[in-house]
Amino acid sequence: MPSRPEKSSGIDSEMAQRLLRAARQAAENAYVPYSHFPVGAAVLTGDGQIVTGANIENASYGLTLCAERVAVFTAAAAGHREVRAVAISTPRHPGATPCGACRQVLNEFRPAAEDLVVLLDGPNGIVELGLSELLPMSFGPRDLS
Ligand code: THU
Repeated sequence: MPSRPEKSSGIDSEMAQRLLRAARQAAENAYVPYSHFPVGAAVLTGDGQIVTGANIENASYGLTLCAERVAVFTAAAAGHREVRAVAISTPRHPGATPCGACRQVLNEFRPAAEDLVVLLDGPNGIVELGLSELLPMSFGPRDLS
């Protein structure tokens, strides 16, 4: 059984709401002419900043980037190296979980001592998961050190 994420992550309900609001707003900038499936993501960095992303599709479909990866890469490109939480808004299918590729990318910046908190904008409210539940027995940067 994957261990339940620690609740010592410091993501209180006010911060969870802020992150979800940011994710919903980010979804409004999704570029989705092919799937018509907007996604917004908001990551909380180690130093408490919120960085957002939306899915950006391409006429060459395989070049599409998911919202979660846009958010994580934007944060990393600004110098952040830790993601404490991610909120995801999928208005066409509330509560959808991140794809496998995005789980792996999130895992790269997971805090050393705590699980990365994943917040979904579910049909009946916030769903809180740990990345370790979504990506058990993961391979990550610490396996290479
Ligand atoms: N998508 C995301 O942005 N995040 C996910 O985790 C799953 C899928 C996007 C990719 C594509 O633009 C659309 O949703 C449909 O797959």
